[in-house]
Amino acid sequence: MPSANPAAMDFLLSRRSRPAKTLRPPVPSATQLAPLLQAAARTPDHGKLEPWRFMVIEKPAMGRLADIAEACSRALGLEQEQIAKGRSQFDQGHLAVAVIEVQKRSEKIPALEQTYSAGAVCLALLNAALAAGWGANWLSGWPSHDRIFMQDALGLEPHERIAGLIHIGTETTAPPERPRPDVDSITTWVSR
Ligand SMILES: Cc1cc2nc3c(=O)[nH]c(=O)nc-3n(C[C@H](O)[C@H](O)[C@H](O)COP(=O)(O)O)c2cc1C
Repeated sequence: MPSANPAAMDFLLSRRSRPAKTLRPPVPSATQLAPLLQAAARTPDHGKLEPWRFMVIEKPAMGRLADIAEACSRALGLEQEQIAKGRSQFDQGHLAVAVIEVQKRSEKIPALEQTYSAGAVCLALLNAALAAGWGANWLSGWPSHDRIFMQDALGLEPHERIAGLIHIGTETTAPPERPRPDVDSITTWVSR
């Protein structure tokens, strides 16, 4: 039996995101970000395909991404509210890590398992950032699902996509606790 790690359990039982719009500088430096990325890359990955990579989006790039989100939304004929939503996470962001799902050809490993692994990387990075004392939030937003945005903003290839945008910064206000699921009601024990 592995030895217990009560600090890790306490963290996992109390962890919660900090809304991206409440995050401020300072943001992690490259040195501070390195162990967070290391922790995120230590994620279950069937077949060791590494079906993911990271792009660190720094403040000077945020305006360009916001402009591309707006151009995409105009091309799609979206309403003003959606245009503003598409821009806002980049206009307001100070540092975000885009977790990029990179689908690898495999006879053995289904594409869906690679997608699950990329999602797990997002949570691992979020948790590592929170555990290190940063405020962090996993966002998507419609641009992260838009092929033209992925291509024009981040240069993604057709076999790549944004799994999540993990905003990391300094917490200003702690959010109220979010209602959590009643675990008993979503758990079934299969005994025979
Ligand atoms: C895939 C995914 C995408 C999300 N995208 C957004 C988003 O675009 N905007 C938003 O306000 N919350 C979004 N959320 C929810 C936030 O991450 C939210 O803060 C979170 O569910 C609270 O999580 P916590 O359990 O860490 O407190 C997303 C969550 C996931 C899993």
